[in-house]
Amino acid sequence: MDDLITLVERALADFTACTDPAALENAKAKYLGKAGALTERLKGLGKLPPAERAASGAAINAAKTKLEDALSARRASIADLKLATQLSADALDVSLPGRGRGVGALHPLTRTLERIETLFRSLGFDVAEGPEIEDDFHNFTALNTPENHPARSMHDTFYVEGGNVLRTHTSPIQIRYMETHAPPIKIIAPGRVYRVDSDATHSPMFHQIEGLWIGDDVSFADLKAVMNEFLKNFFERDDVTLRFRPSFFPFTEPSAEIDMRFGDGGWLEIAGAGQVHPNVLRAVNIDPEHWQGFAFGMGPDRLTMLRYGVDDLRLFYENDLRFLEQFA
Ligand code: PHE
Repeated sequence: MDDLITLVERALADFTACTDPAALENAKAKYLGKAGALTERLKGLGKLPPAERAASGAAINAAKTKLEDALSARRASIADLKLATQLSADALDVSLPGRGRGVGALHPLTRTLERIETLFRSLGFDVAEGPEIEDDFHNFTALNTPENHPARSMHDTFYVEGGNVLRTHTSPIQIRYMETHAPPIKIIAPGRVYRVDSDATHSPMFHQIEGLWIGDDVSFADLKAVMNEFLKNFFERDDVTLRFRPSFFPFTEPSAEIDMRFGDGGWLEIAGAGQVHPNVLRAVNIDPEHWQGFAFGMGPDRLTMLRYGVDDLRLFYENDLRFLEQFA
């Protein structure tokens, strides 16, 4: 009897020591399997004197039930343990701060373009667009730009297959617009333009905004008023003054460079402009005896540099977030 108690104690200790199902099944076999210690005892019952058989059999069966109960309890607790380990491994700490997604922002040049569009719309201008790959006619010929003009040289212009060019200015948009719209016309045309040029104030790709106002009697006085109004609003300053310097463009006559300054600071060139040349109007079948007006082309990149105090144009195109985030 005593060694039966010891056997049960050993079995219970073995079961408790098992931490995975396979080990537990091996421990079970040791006691309850075909050749298990307890099974051997049951088999040995027949050798006992008949008087002892009943009591001994009852004791062994009680021990067997005890071990089977202990086994299923241990099976359950091993399963619980496994689940708990899994849960803690996959645990989601809902109190951790979120990873956060960077909030996007508009590029400073995009901001400027949108701002310029808004201001010109408030002055009654529509916004027009055109292709960045242009043909010779729209980029040069229709703009009264002769064969031998330097802008047509390989040093200044990116030529692409088929004799087309990456537009060197936004002026071809005015041609396309006048081909499809009858005057009066009052548009601005923003976009990317390309020239073979690269230093702190020139990038091979940059932006221009073309302006075109054609009417019965649109003159330089209107140009001056529009530019004045626009620049004061753009910079949100009243101390902006303009200066017109005589200049030359094939597509305008007379032509001028427009300079501006804050207070009595230095003059900065911000636009080219002029009265649209009669040949340009003729190229798009508009009668220059009836219609007249001005065109201008200005650099929003330069305006952005001035507005934000940036001194190297290339910073706008490097897309370094440390730079760009300052405008967000
Ligand atoms: N297209 C000219 C340039 O790129 C600018 C300009 C536009 C000048 C319209 C006059 C009128 O330099």
